[in-house]
Amino acid sequence: MTGLPKLMRIALGAEVTGVCSNAKTDLVRSLGADHVIGYTSEDFADGEHHYDAILDIGGNSPVSRLRRALTPGGRLVIVGGETDGRWLGGFGCQLRALLLSPLVTQKLGILTAKENGADLSVLRELVESGKVTPAVDRTYPLSETAAAIRYFQDGNVRGKIVITL
Ligand SMILES: NC(=O)c1ccc[n+]([C@@H]2O[C@H](COP(=O)([O-])OP(=O)(O)OC[C@H]3O[C@@H](n4cnc5c(N)ncnc54)[C@H](OP(=O)(O)O)[C@@H]3O)[C@@H](O)[C@H]2O)c1
Repeated sequence: MTGLPKLMRIALGAEVTGVCSNAKTDLVRSLGADHVIGYTSEDFADGEHHYDAILDIGGNSPVSRLRRALTPGGRLVIVGGETDGRWLGGFGCQLRALLLSPLVTQKLGILTAKENGADLSVLRELVESGKVTPAVDRTYPLSETAAAIRYFQDGNVRGKIVITL
C-alpha cells in the first residue's frame, strides 16, 4: 500500500484503516493511515468494526470474512492476493465475489489496473508536491535484480523495491 492511505484521504476524504503485519504498522501509519491493524495479532473482521469500503490488496481472506467486516451496503474491491487454487489458478476469491454480488446488499467486485498517462501525471503531481510519498525501501541497478528478488523473498521489504535502468 505504497502511499495509498494518504492518497485515499486526499482524493476521497476517507477515514482509512490500514491492515499489515505487526512489524510494519509504524510504516503504514507514517504513510497516512488514520488507524492501523496488525494482522499478526488483531482481526479486522472481529465483528466490532464495519467498513464502508474494503480494498483487499494481498490478504487472501475468504469473501465471507471480508463481507463480515463490511457494512450492509458496503463495497468490496479485490485487487490481488492469489491463492494456489487448483482449478481457478488462484482467482477463486475474485470469481466468488463477482458471482455473489448480485445476490447480496453489498457490492463485491475486482479491480484490474490499467495504467495510462493521464492517471500517472496526476500521481506524479501528488508525489512531486509531497502530498503522497511512495514507500521505497531499497533501489537496485538492473544488474543486481537477483539480489533484489532475494531481499524481497526474505519478506522484510517495507514498501517497494525499485530497479533502476
Ligand atoms: N488487479 C491488478 O490489476 C493488480 C495489479 C498489480 C498487482 N496485483 C496483485 O496485487 C497483490 C499485491 O501486489 P504487490 O505488488 O503490492 O505485492 P507486495 O509488494 O508483495 O505486497 C503485498 C502486501 O500484502 C500484505 N499482506 C500479506 N498478507 C496480508 C494479510 N493477511 N492482511 C493484510 N495484508 C497482507 C503484505 O504486508 P506484509 O509485508 O506486512 O505482510 C504486503 O505489503 C498481488 O497479489 C498482485 O498480484 C493486482
